[in-house]
Amino acid sequence: MSIKVTWFGHSFFTIESSKVRIAIDPFIEGNKLCPISAGDIEADYICITHGHADHVGSCVEIAKRCGSVVISNPEICEWLANKGAKKNHSMQIGGSYLFQWGKLKMTMALHSSPMPDGSYGGNPMGMIFEIDGKKIYHAGDTGLFGDMKLIGEEKIDLALLPIGDNYTMGSDDALKAIAMIKPSKVIPMHFNTFDVIKQNPVHWIKEINESKLSQAIQLSPGESITL
Ligand code: NI
Ligand code: MN
Repeated sequence: MSIKVTWFGHSFFTIESSKVRIAIDPFIEGNKLCPISAGDIEADYICITHGHADHVGSCVEIAKRCGSVVISNPEICEWLANKGAKKNHSMQIGGSYLFQWGKLKMTMALHSSPMPDGSYGGNPMGMIFEIDGKKIYHAGDTGLFGDMKLIGEEKIDLALLPIGDNYTMGSDDALKAIAMIKPSKVIPMHFNTFDVIKQNPVHWIKEINESKLSQAIQLSPGESITL
């Protein structure tokens, strides 16, 4: 059974297996790289890493239409429920839960997490998905932290790492992150969406692939890989 992972610019990915369709941080309106509209997404679950508008995105619109279950921290789940995304499953950093489609574990992220209206949005998170024997780490928005070594012990098949700098780690720190996480494959995210996070990842991709630390893959928005 294969898993399809698709990037839509910024930190917005979908993961599809034979059992589930998951959307992560569905930033669509305002995401100039995103080639689709909110109405194109079919999601059973929507995972939100933190409260910033460029991650909450079109969550409510998609959840209302698809009846999706939102997975996030309790504060974000409650805020989204008040906006009409009623079905949710709240989790906290360090917690994991076995869903009928696989396991999800919440990890730390060094960032902030207010909601788009300034309400308290709890702690920002990264997420490790274990689906059909494959592990995918979505780092959320984060700076580099030494406990990424512990994530490395999880044997990650695919890491989705921010490289945009300014709001998250940049490409140099993302290289240090890869040395700790040791993912089989890595895809860069959270860059080129805004002027302050402009990056050309070509050199970064080349450096990783030459170092053999991991296999780095640059997707075009809307493009997928299969695990
Ligand atoms: Ni953020
Ligand atoms: Mn962000």
